[in-house]
Amino acid sequence: MENEELISIAEKAMKNAYAPYSKFKVGAAVLCDDGSVYGGCNIENSSYGATMCAERTAIFKAVSEGKRKLKKIAIVSVTNDVTYPCGMCRQVMNEFMPDGCVIMKEKSGRIIEIKVSDLLPHAFLL
Ligand code: THU
Repeated sequence: MENEELISIAEKAMKNAYAPYSKFKVGAAVLCDDGSVYGGCNIENSSYGATMCAERTAIFKAVSEGKRKLKKIAIVSVTNDVTYPCGMCRQVMNEFMPDGCVIMKEKSGRIIEIKVSDLLPHAFLL
C-alpha cells in the first residue's frame, strides 16, 4: 500500500476522534504484514487518564483481530502537520512493529517516514 493511501485512511479515522476536552483530534492507520489495515482515533474520557491515543486504538484493533506483525503506522492530527507519537504509543509500537516505521505528513504535503527504532532507542524489553 502507498503511503498516501495509509495517510488518507488515518484522516478518515480522525473524523471519529472523541476529543471534547483537548479538542486535539488524532487519527492513525496501521498496515499489517498480511496487507490488512486498521484505523483508529483518540478517545478521551472525563477521567483524563482513561484516554486512549489514536495509535494504540489502531494497533489494539489489529492485535485483537489476531495480527501480530505490523509494518507501518500513519499518524495525522488536527494540526495538519507532523504529530509525533507519545512515549507510551512508542513502547506499544516497539512490541508489535519493532522493525516498522511511522509515517506523518508535513504541512507542505511531504510525507516523512521514521523508523520505530529511531523513535524509541534502547526500548524496554522483558
Ligand atoms: N494523543 C494521541 O491520540 N496520540 C498521541 O501520540 C499523543 C496524544 C491524543 C490523546 C489526547 O486525546 C489528545 O491527543 C491530547 O493529548
